[in-house]
Amino acid sequence: MTHRIAVLPGDGIGPEVTAAAVQVLGAALPECTFREAAVGAAAIASHGTPLPQETIALGRESDAILFGAVGGPGFDDVTPEKRPEAAILGLRKAFGLYANLRPAFAFAGLESRSPLRAELVRGLDLVIVRELTGGLYFGPKSLEREDGVLTARDTLVYRDFEIERIARVAFDLARARRKHVTSVDKSNVLVSSQLWRRIVGDVAREYPDVTLAHMLVDNAAMQLVRDPRAFDVIVTENLFGDILSDEAAMVTGTIGTAASASLGGPPSARGFGLYEPISGTAPDIVGRGIANPAAAILSAAMLARFSLGETEAAERIERAVAATLAEGPRTADLSDAAPATSTEFTAAVIARCRAESVGARP
Ligand code: IPM
Ligand code: MN
Repeated sequence: MTHRIAVLPGDGIGPEVTAAAVQVLGAALPECTFREAAVGAAAIASHGTPLPQETIALGRESDAILFGAVGGPGFDDVTPEKRPEAAILGLRKAFGLYANLRPAFAFAGLESRSPLRAELVRGLDLVIVRELTGGLYFGPKSLEREDGVLTARDTLVYRDFEIERIARVAFDLARARRKHVTSVDKSNVLVSSQLWRRIVGDVAREYPDVTLAHMLVDNAAMQLVRDPRAFDVIVTENLFGDILSDEAAMVTGTIGTAASASLGGPPSARGFGLYEPISGTAPDIVGRGIANPAAAILSAAMLARFSLGETEAAERIERAVAATLAEGPRTADLSDAAPATSTEFTAAVIARCRAESVGARP
């Protein structure tokens, strides 16, 4: 059976790292077919809009989307719906991808790259479950003059069913892991967080084998650098999850290995999803061939696991990335002397994938 993958490279380092991910996924699963479409600033340039209809149509004809990054200079004064970022927000909404899984994993051999002491980070393995189609990102917005005063509004809206379904994703995931959920909110200030806390608590009763802790978001930001290994699964509102996932990624030593999956149901349901590195466009290193493709390659592994049901290929890719990170060659974000280019890193991952599959043959 062929697997149809839509590839949306986008802007910045997006094209460089998605090319690497396509190569690795194609090598691990030759039955994949790849078709490309435009998003972000690239799509504004070619189609006059950040998310062309034909890009959405390609997604609908595909089993999964491999996404690069969107954003660019020159859009500071442009309204949100015309900015490059509207592409990723529109895709999440159009495909109902409410569950965003963002693992923060300390790969062996990289502990000393963390800004924290290595002993705080060694063995770190947590997942942030970020609610992705509600909250502050998607509530009503306005910019108006009210009684002569220029007034901007973003609204944090949650409906009970939106909280309930993301809580279930977190508890399901925790069940397959260390069975601990931390629900992060700001219930001492926000009424949406009070509802969040109540409903997560209700869902928790259906999972007596999983422990639940509630934590305020400011405290969570602090605990993530004080003792990151105390966390297993973190579930939280859209914007809180955006912020905490960058923090958690950096704790591992680099954002260059931070992959993500955006799903429309629990991971165990195996369906359509969008997969992207969380790092963004990295304007400072665009076009130099030095971006770390590990996050995009690991996102492709999540694609194989959650959307294609190809667990063995996913594990093979993950082992090859882990071995390459441990033994080298490493890209500049993870190496002080003679760093590898993105292409060299990718070639090393593919060589390890191939060596393993040849070795595995009877
Ligand atoms: C992310 C990014 C996006 C977000 C931007 C590009 C809209 O920062 O995926 O974390 O805020 O969700
Ligand atoms: Mn982000």
